[in-house]
Amino acid sequence: MDSLDKQLSNRIAVKIGAMAKIWVDGVEYEVDEKKNLIDALKEKGVEIPHFCYHPKLSVVGMCRICLIEIEGVPKFQAACNTPIKDGMKINAFGEKIVKAREGVMEFLLINHPLDCPVCDKAGECRLQDYSFKLGHETTRYKEEKRNIPQEKIGTNLYINHNRCILCYRCVRFDREIVGVNDLEMLSRGNDTIIAYVPPETEKEKSPYLNHNYQGALADICPVGALLNESTLFRSRVWWYESKESHCHGCATLCRVTANLKNNAIYRYMPPQHPERDGYFICDYGRFSTHDFSQNRLYAYRRSGTKIRSQEALAQLAELLAQAKRIAVLGGGSESCTDVDALAELVGKLRDAGKTVQWDFRSNAQAFYSGNAQWDFLLSKDLRPNAAYLRQKNATDFADFTALEKELGQAELILVVGELSPPYAYQTGKIYAHVKGLKIPTSVEQTELYQALDTHNAWPKTVLLTTHADSAADKALLAIPIQSFVEKSGRFCDKEGNFKETTVLLRPVQGLRSSGEIWQSIPALEPVGVA
Ligand code: SF4
Ligand code: SF4
Ligand code: FES
Repeated sequence: MDSLDKQLSNRIAVKIGAMAKIWVDGVEYEVDEKKNLIDALKEKGVEIPHFCYHPKLSVVGMCRICLIEIEGVPKFQAACNTPIKDGMKINAFGEKIVKAREGVMEFLLINHPLDCPVCDKAGECRLQDYSFKLGHETTRYKEEKRNIPQEKIGTNLYINHNRCILCYRCVRFDREIVGVNDLEMLSRGNDTIIAYVPPETEKEKSPYLNHNYQGALADICPVGALLNESTLFRSRVWWYESKESHCHGCATLCRVTANLKNNAIYRYMPPQHPERDGYFICDYGRFSTHDFSQNRLYAYRRSGTKIRSQEALAQLAELLAQAKRIAVLGGGSESCTDVDALAELVGKLRDAGKTVQWDFRSNAQAFYSGNAQWDFLLSKDLRPNAAYLRQKNATDFADFTALEKELGQAELILVVGELSPPYAYQTGKIYAHVKGLKIPTSVEQTELYQALDTHNAWPKTVLLTTHADSAADKALLAIPIQSFVEKSGRFCDKEGNFKETTVLLRPVQGLRSSGEIWQSIPALEPVGVA
């Protein structure tokens, strides 16, 4: 064997060393022996049913639906809790195992109300799917089913105890992923329930579970036991059209699946390939999508009065030419193409000898220092393109006080997207509580709005915005622009990765992006800006 052959055979040996040959119902598979058996077989197209197993949570082996028979082992084993061994022979779908799973389903459904027609999880419920695939069409259970009333346990979370199969996923998720010890199993036997039992000090602060992952809890619950109040009974899941894109909520730019109906986003869900794109998304982003289709601004306005677009753009050109001191605020929610167009404009204005200060941060908490995360997902930068704006040096103010002072001194103020929900505030009744993160619930509550009021700066403010609110009425000019979800574009996440977004909602005809607005301003040369 020459040296090249030796090297190759060594490499193959190392690779095969980490692999194991196993047989499932007589078919041979080579699988990674370090993986969980359920995941390793899923990669090969063999789907072992499971409720309590989740790739990101510890293994508890509680539901028993994943039972398999292993040659040489006297009793059935839980696949989720079985280490892979080279040479293992498994009976996964033989007659005995199918019968055993039928029995498990019968037990799990003893107290279940079988109320799929009124359950929000129907259509994406593992219990429903397995009941069709693995269950029996009748039950032998003749006793009275237990009936425990539905309970609100979170600021945005209900538990329907009767549907719960006690898989313990929710308890493990809170402990292992969120890092809070607030859910627990109470009582025993037929009376066992999942309950919200936080430490006494926490309960004093809030009678309900109030973390930023209540949507994720409802997702990982394999049945319809945990449900989010804000989306309850809003639609059936089979009515949605689904498209993948990225969340607009912060600089993490999580990959999401958007559920759409009637040109509105009903909800964000985790991505379709979680093993590649992440399993969880936070509530802050997930529950702020309805803002995109409500109370939109489509007409150009001057001091609250509708005007023609050409008139507004001509006036904007005039203002840019006349002003010697200009403050540009925002751009962090705009795509790279839009930001480039704004950067070009800022460059031209500076070249024409004007003083232009540009900062994409519009409230005091955006000028953070130190830790850049609110929690394990939510970034302190709440603008989806914040990292790109930092690259463009759109950080001219030292803090919000300096920014506010400039509002009094600048002759012209351009505000780009910063007073548009859901970037500036969340209009929803329910929003995520994140420790320390103050979320305004109306445009009037935002610091930038209040600062513009204090400095009587509205008559010199040009607003590029998505919503027809009081800010659009007060500004000298209000110019409607496309929102994050109405255009495709590139965005830069907090780690510097560029990500593409998809058009989720059809924009109304003629509605332009902020970049197109800058490019459509009539020629500036005659008034001194080339
Ligand atoms: S509420 Fe859902 S996730 Fe929690 S134990 Fe019950 S079925 Fe499992
Ligand atoms: S962490 Fe940020 S990007 Fe991810 S879902 Fe939450 S708000 Fe959206
Ligand atoms: S998935 Fe294995 S016991 Fe629940």
